[in-house]
Amino acid sequence: MLPRQRPDIGWLDLVCAAAYTLRGGDPAAAQAAAEAGADALADDGRHSLVSLSVRSGFDRLLATLQLPPGSEVLVSAVTIRDMIAVIERHGLRAVPVDLHADTLSLDVAALAAALTPRSRMLLVAHLFGSRMPLRAPLDFARQHGLLLVEDGAQAYTGDGWLGDAACDVSLLSFGPIKTATALGGAVLRFADPGLCERVRAAQAHQPLQAGRAFAQRVGKYALLKALTARIPYGLFCRACGWFGIDHDALINRSVRGFAGGELFQRIRQRPCAAQSRLLLRRLRGYPRARAAQRAQRGERLLAALPLARPGQAVAGSGHWVLPVLSADPPRLIAGLLARGFDATRGASSLYAVPGDAAPGAGDLRRVMDAVVYLPAPEGEGDLRRLAEAVRATVTDAAAA
Ligand SMILES: Cc1ncc(COP(=O)(O)O)c(C=O)c1O
Repeated sequence: MLPRQRPDIGWLDLVCAAAYTLRGGDPAAAQAAAEAGADALADDGRHSLVSLSVRSGFDRLLATLQLPPGSEVLVSAVTIRDMIAVIERHGLRAVPVDLHADTLSLDVAALAAALTPRSRMLLVAHLFGSRMPLRAPLDFARQHGLLLVEDGAQAYTGDGWLGDAACDVSLLSFGPIKTATALGGAVLRFADPGLCERVRAAQAHQPLQAGRAFAQRVGKYALLKALTARIPYGLFCRACGWFGIDHDALINRSVRGFAGGELFQRIRQRPCAAQSRLLLRRLRGYPRARAAQRAQRGERLLAALPLARPGQAVAGSGHWVLPVLSADPPRLIAGLLARGFDATRGASSLYAVPGDAAPGAGDLRRVMDAVVYLPAPEGEGDLRRLAEAVRATVTDAAAA
C-alpha cells in the first residue's frame, strides 16, 4: 500500500529532536539562533521571527496591529479554516477573493470588487505547493494602503525561497505534514524590523510550549513514520477494515498540528528550545534535491492522468500535494485503495471560505468538493503503477 504522505523527516532528525528535548536550554537563545539562521539563508534584508506555528505567529501579528474592530482582511477564497478563525477572533472580517482554478492566482477583478473603505490587509495563500506570482496583488496592496501578508505555509521546499522579499510579511510553516517538517514551528519574515520586534515582544509574553509536549510529539511522529512504511501501512489499513475503523479519518485526525482542545489555548504559546533547534536543523540541512525530485515526479504523474487538476496551468509547482478533480471522489478513492493506493480528500485542511463575494468564471471554490489527493510516488515504479490504477478506476467508473 502506498500511503498518502509520510512525515518528511529522517530518522536522524528524529534522534536529534529527542536529544534536543533532553538537553533543554534557553528557549529565547534557541529561538534567536533559529531566526538568525533563517535570516542568513534568506539574505533578503528582511527579519525573521520563529513561532510555534503559522497560526500562532499570525495571531500575534493581528494582536500587535490592533486594527479597528470590523476592519476587513481580503483573503484567498480557499485557505484553512483556522486562519479565518484567527482573523475573526480579533474582531475582523475575512472577505474572500476568488482564485483562478487553473493558475491558483488571485482574480484581480475580484480583488478590486472586494475592496471597501474598511479593508486593511491582503492575505494571499500559495496553494498545493505552488507559488502564485505576486506582482498584481503587490501593486494592488500598495495602491490601497493594505498590508500584504503572504501565506506560504504550503510553499516551502528548501530551495532557498523564504517568501517574496517584496511582501510586508511572509508566513512559512514547518508543521507535521509540511515539506522539511520540524514537527511544528513557523518562520515569519518581516520587511519592517519595528513590526517584527513588536510581534516578537507580544509572543514573549505567552506561555512556553512544554518540553514534555514536544517530546511526546517526537514520539508520535516517529511512530507515524514507522507506520507509514508500505508494509506496516498496508497491514494497518487492513486491520482498520476488519475492526470497522475509518483509517482515512483516523490518519487525518492524528496528523493535525493542534488536534483536540481549544485552538487558541494551543496556539498561544512560544516555542520551546528543542522546537527552535529542530527548526534550525531542518532549515540548514534539508537536501535541495529532495523536493525537486518530488516536484518532477508529481508533474509527470499528473500530466499522465485522464483527470483535470487545480493549478493545471501553473509552471514549476513544488507539488507538495497531488490534487486531482474527480466527478465521484468516494469512488476514485475506493478504486485506488483496492489497487493499493491510499488517496484521500483530507490531505490538507483547505476549504472554500464562505462569503458573499460573487464567484468568478474559473473560481477555485467551485471545484474544491471534487478534489482528491493522490499519494506521492516514491519512484518510477510507483509512478507508473499509480497512473495505471487511476486510469483503470476512471475507466471502471465510466463503464458502470
Ligand atoms: C494555507 C495554510 N495556511 C496556514 C496553515 C497553518 O500552518 P501552521 O500549521 O503552521 O499553523 C496551513 C497549514 O496547513 C495552510 O495550509
